[in-house]
Amino acid sequence: MRHIMVLNPKGGCGKSTLATNLAAYYASKGKKVALADYDEQQSSLDWLERRPAKRAEIKGLAGYRDGLKGLSRTTDVVILDAPARAHGKELTNLLHHAETILIPVLPSQIDMQATEKFIHELRATPTIKNNKAKIALVANRVREGTLIFDDLDAFLDKLPVPYIATLREAQNYVRAYTRGVGIHELPEYLSWPDREEWGPLIDWLNTRASRPRAAA
Ligand SMILES: Nc1ncnc2c1ncn2[C@@H]1O[C@H](COP(=O)(O)OP(=O)(O)OP(=O)(O)O)[C@@H](O)[C@H]1O
Ligand SMILES: [Mg+2]
Repeated sequence: MRHIMVLNPKGGCGKSTLATNLAAYYASKGKKVALADYDEQQSSLDWLERRPAKRAEIKGLAGYRDGLKGLSRTTDVVILDAPARAHGKELTNLLHHAETILIPVLPSQIDMQATEKFIHELRATPTIKNNKAKIALVANRVREGTLIFDDLDAFLDKLPVPYIATLREAQNYVRAYTRGVGIHELPEYLSWPDREEWGPLIDWLNTRASRPRAAA
Protein backbone atom coordinates (compact mmCIF):
# COMPACT_ATOMS: atom_id res chain seq x y z
CA MET A 1 0.00 0.00 0.00
CA ARG A 2 1.27 3.41 -0.99
CA HIS A 3 1.14 6.31 1.54
CA ILE A 4 1.37 9.84 0.12
CA MET A 5 1.07 12.80 2.48
CA VAL A 6 0.55 16.40 1.45
CA LEU A 7 2.15 18.56 4.09
CA ASN A 8 3.13 22.16 4.78
CA PRO A 9 2.30 23.99 8.01
CA LYS A 10 1.69 27.16 6.01
CA GLY A 11 -2.06 27.59 5.55
CA GLY A 12 -3.69 27.84 2.16
CA CYS A 13 -0.74 26.64 0.03
CA GLY A 14 -2.76 23.92 -1.74
CA LYS A 15 -2.51 20.81 0.46
CA SER A 16 -6.18 19.86 0.10
CA THR A 17 -6.11 20.75 -3.60
CA LEU A 18 -3.18 18.41 -4.18
CA ALA A 19 -4.62 15.70 -1.93
CA THR A 20 -8.04 15.63 -3.60
CA ASN A 21 -6.57 15.75 -7.11
CA LEU A 22 -4.16 12.91 -6.32
CA ALA A 23 -6.95 10.81 -4.85
CA ALA A 24 -9.14 11.43 -7.92
CA TYR A 25 -6.25 10.70 -10.27
CA TYR A 26 -5.43 7.31 -8.76
CA ALA A 27 -9.10 6.38 -8.43
CA SER A 28 -9.72 7.27 -12.08
CA LYS A 29 -6.84 4.93 -12.98
CA GLY A 30 -8.60 2.03 -11.29
CA LYS A 31 -6.67 2.08 -8.00
CA LYS A 32 -8.39 1.45 -4.70
CA VAL A 33 -7.92 4.80 -2.96
CA ALA A 34 -8.45 6.12 0.56
CA LEU A 35 -8.32 9.82 1.43
CA ALA A 36 -7.46 10.47 5.07
CA ASP A 37 -8.21 14.00 6.20
CA TYR A 38 -6.04 14.97 9.19
CA ASP A 39 -7.41 18.50 9.24
CA GLU A 40 -10.41 19.30 11.43
CA GLN A 41 -11.46 21.76 8.73
CA GLN A 42 -12.25 18.64 6.65
CA SER A 43 -11.79 20.26 3.25
CA SER A 44 -10.94 16.89 1.67
CA LEU A 45 -13.92 15.13 3.25
CA ASP A 46 -16.21 17.99 2.17
CA TRP A 47 -14.92 17.53 -1.38
CA LEU A 48 -15.55 13.80 -1.15
CA GLU A 49 -19.14 14.40 -0.05
CA ARG A 50 -19.73 16.25 -3.31
CA ARG A 51 -18.19 13.46 -5.40
CA PRO A 52 -20.71 12.23 -7.98
CA ALA A 53 -21.77 8.60 -7.48
CA LYS A 54 -20.78 7.73 -11.07
CA ARG A 55 -17.11 8.62 -10.38
CA ALA A 56 -14.57 6.06 -9.22
CA GLU A 57 -15.03 5.45 -5.53
CA ILE A 58 -12.72 6.96 -2.89
CA LYS A 59 -12.93 5.91 0.75
CA GLY A 60 -12.90 8.88 3.13
CA LEU A 61 -11.26 8.59 6.55
CA ALA A 62 -11.55 11.14 9.37
CA GLY A 63 -7.82 11.03 10.10
CA TYR A 64 -7.97 14.05 12.46
CA ARG A 65 -10.21 12.01 14.78
CA ASP A 66 -9.59 8.34 14.06
CA GLY A 67 -6.19 8.18 12.36
CA LEU A 68 -6.21 5.41 9.77
CA LYS A 69 -8.90 3.40 11.55
CA GLY A 70 -11.15 1.73 8.97
CA LEU A 71 -8.46 1.59 6.29
CA SER A 72 -8.93 -1.56 4.25
CA ARG A 73 -5.83 -3.72 3.79
CA THR A 74 -6.60 -4.00 0.11
CA THR A 75 -6.21 -0.25 -0.44
CA ASP A 76 -3.65 0.56 -3.14
CA VAL A 77 -3.01 4.21 -2.34
CA VAL A 78 -3.77 6.26 0.76
CA ILE A 79 -3.56 10.02 0.42
CA LEU A 80 -3.15 11.96 3.66
CA ASP A 81 -4.19 15.62 3.80
CA ALA A 82 -2.31 17.28 6.67
CA PRO A 83 -3.55 20.28 8.65
CA ALA A 84 -1.90 23.71 8.66
CA ARG A 85 0.33 24.58 11.61
CA ALA A 86 1.47 21.00 12.25
CA HIS A 87 4.74 21.27 14.16
CA GLY A 88 6.55 19.52 17.01
CA LYS A 89 4.84 16.43 18.40
CA GLU A 90 1.87 16.68 16.04
CA LEU A 91 4.27 16.71 13.10
CA THR A 92 6.24 13.75 14.45
CA ASN A 93 3.02 11.76 14.86
CA LEU A 94 1.82 12.63 11.38
CA LEU A 95 5.12 11.59 9.87
CA HIS A 96 4.69 8.05 11.18
CA HIS A 97 2.09 7.59 8.43
CA ALA A 98 4.15 9.10 5.63
CA GLU A 99 6.19 7.35 3.01
CA THR A 100 6.20 10.11 0.42
CA ILE A 101 5.65 13.74 1.39
CA LEU A 102 4.61 16.39 -1.11
CA ILE A 103 5.08 20.01 -0.05
CA PRO A 104 3.13 22.60 -2.05
CA VAL A 105 4.62 26.10 -2.00
CA LEU A 106 3.03 29.32 -3.19
CA PRO A 107 4.87 32.08 -5.05
CA SER A 108 4.96 34.42 -2.05
CA GLN A 109 7.87 35.65 0.05
CA ILE A 110 6.08 34.76 3.28
CA ASP A 111 5.37 31.22 2.07
CA MET A 112 8.91 30.69 0.81
CA GLN A 113 10.45 31.78 4.11
CA ALA A 114 8.05 29.64 6.12
CA THR A 115 8.76 26.66 3.86
CA GLU A 116 12.51 27.04 4.22
CA LYS A 117 12.17 26.87 8.00
CA PHE A 118 9.83 23.91 7.70
CA ILE A 119 12.23 21.96 5.49
CA HIS A 120 14.89 22.39 8.18
CA GLU A 121 12.46 21.19 10.83
CA LEU A 122 11.40 18.25 8.67
CA ARG A 123 14.95 17.16 7.87
CA ALA A 124 15.75 17.07 11.58
CA THR A 125 12.91 14.63 12.36
CA PRO A 126 13.74 10.93 12.92
CA THR A 127 11.49 9.99 9.98
CA ILE A 128 13.53 11.92 7.45
CA LYS A 129 16.92 11.43 9.15
CA ASN A 130 16.40 7.69 9.10
CA ASN A 131 15.25 7.76 5.49
CA LYS A 132 11.77 6.49 6.32
CA ALA A 133 10.09 8.97 3.98
CA LYS A 134 10.96 10.96 0.87
CA ILE A 135 10.10 14.62 0.38
CA ALA A 136 9.45 16.65 -2.76
CA LEU A 137 8.43 20.24 -3.48
CA VAL A 138 5.63 21.38 -5.79
CA ALA A 139 5.27 25.02 -6.84
CA ASN A 140 1.56 25.83 -6.76
CA ARG A 141 -0.64 28.64 -8.15
CA VAL A 142 2.15 29.98 -10.29
CA ARG A 143 1.72 32.60 -12.96
CA GLU A 144 4.41 32.20 -15.61
CA GLY A 145 6.31 35.33 -16.45
CA THR A 146 5.84 36.96 -13.06
CA LEU A 147 8.90 38.06 -11.07
CA ILE A 148 7.69 36.26 -7.97
CA PHE A 149 7.46 33.00 -9.93
CA ASP A 150 11.08 33.44 -11.06
CA ASP A 151 12.01 33.98 -7.39
CA LEU A 152 10.07 30.87 -6.31
CA ASP A 153 11.62 28.78 -9.07
CA ALA A 154 15.15 29.83 -8.08
CA PHE A 155 14.34 29.36 -4.39
CA LEU A 156 12.95 25.83 -4.83
CA ASP A 157 15.89 24.86 -7.03
CA LYS A 158 18.27 25.72 -4.19
CA LEU A 159 16.54 23.78 -1.43
CA PRO A 160 18.09 20.39 -0.61
CA VAL A 161 14.91 18.56 -1.66
CA PRO A 162 13.73 17.59 -5.18
CA TYR A 163 11.55 20.17 -6.88
CA ILE A 164 9.33 18.05 -9.08
CA ALA A 165 6.46 20.04 -10.55
CA THR A 166 4.98 23.45 -11.20
CA LEU A 167 1.21 23.86 -11.17
CA ARG A 168 -0.33 27.00 -12.56
CA GLU A 169 -3.05 29.08 -10.96
CA ALA A 170 -6.18 27.89 -12.72
CA GLN A 171 -9.93 28.03 -12.28
CA ASN A 172 -9.97 24.31 -13.13
CA TYR A 173 -8.82 23.59 -9.56
CA VAL A 174 -11.65 25.63 -8.13
CA ARG A 175 -14.12 24.03 -10.55
CA ALA A 176 -12.89 20.50 -9.76
CA TYR A 177 -12.99 21.09 -5.99
CA THR A 178 -16.56 22.40 -6.21
CA ARG A 179 -17.68 19.37 -8.21
CA GLY A 180 -16.00 16.67 -6.14
CA VAL A 181 -13.68 15.63 -8.96
CA GLY A 182 -10.03 16.08 -9.90
CA ILE A 183 -8.62 18.00 -12.86
CA HIS A 184 -8.01 14.66 -14.61
CA GLU A 185 -11.76 14.08 -14.51
CA LEU A 186 -12.69 17.44 -16.08
CA PRO A 187 -13.19 17.49 -19.87
CA GLU A 188 -9.83 17.19 -21.59
CA TYR A 189 -10.33 20.28 -23.77
CA LEU A 190 -10.56 22.33 -20.53
CA SER A 191 -7.96 20.64 -18.38
CA TRP A 192 -5.19 19.55 -20.75
CA PRO A 193 -2.72 22.28 -19.67
CA ASP A 194 -3.12 21.18 -16.04
CA ARG A 195 -2.93 17.48 -16.87
CA GLU A 196 0.37 18.18 -18.64
CA GLU A 197 1.73 19.92 -15.56
CA TRP A 198 0.77 16.92 -13.42
CA GLY A 199 2.84 14.65 -15.67
CA PRO A 200 6.19 15.20 -13.93
CA LEU A 201 4.55 14.90 -10.50
CA ILE A 202 2.98 11.54 -11.34
CA ASP A 203 6.20 10.39 -13.02
CA TRP A 204 8.20 11.19 -9.89
CA LEU A 205 5.68 9.33 -7.72
CA ASN A 206 6.26 6.33 -9.98
CA THR A 207 10.03 6.37 -9.44
CA ARG A 208 11.90 4.55 -6.72
CA ALA A 209 13.30 7.91 -5.59
CA SER A 210 9.89 8.79 -4.19
CA ARG A 211 9.89 5.84 -1.78
CA PRO A 212 12.14 4.98 1.13
CA ARG A 213 14.45 2.12 0.31
CA ALA A 214 12.73 -0.46 2.50
CA ALA A 215 9.40 0.16 0.79
CA ALA A 216 10.74 0.25 -2.76
N1 LIG B 1 -3.36 25.85 -8.54
C1 LIG B 1 -4.42 26.53 -8.06
N2 LIG B 1 -5.13 27.36 -8.85
C2 LIG B 1 -6.18 28.06 -8.36
N3 LIG B 1 -6.60 28.00 -7.09
C3 LIG B 1 -5.93 27.20 -6.25
C4 LIG B 1 -4.82 26.41 -6.69
N4 LIG B 1 -4.36 25.69 -5.62
C5 LIG B 1 -5.15 26.03 -4.58
N5 LIG B 1 -6.09 26.92 -4.94
C6 LIG B 1 -7.11 27.56 -4.07
O1 LIG B 1 -6.44 28.11 -2.96
C7 LIG B 1 -7.21 27.96 -1.78
C8 LIG B 1 -6.38 27.20 -0.73
O2 LIG B 1 -6.10 25.89 -1.23
P1 LIG B 1 -6.20 24.62 -0.29
O3 LIG B 1 -7.44 24.64 0.53
O4 LIG B 1 -5.95 23.44 -1.15
O5 LIG B 1 -4.94 24.88 0.64
P2 LIG B 1 -4.56 24.14 2.02
O6 LIG B 1 -3.08 24.18 2.10
O7 LIG B 1 -5.24 22.83 2.09
O8 LIG B 1 -5.20 25.13 3.09
P3 LIG B 1 -5.29 24.84 4.68
O9 LIG B 1 -3.92 25.09 5.21
O10 LIG B 1 -6.30 25.84 5.15
O11 LIG B 1 -5.73 23.42 4.85
C9 LIG B 1 -8.47 27.23 -2.18
O12 LIG B 1 -9.48 28.18 -2.39
C10 LIG B 1 -8.10 26.56 -3.50
O13 LIG B 1 -9.19 26.39 -4.36
MG1 LIG C 1 -6.42 21.96 3.61
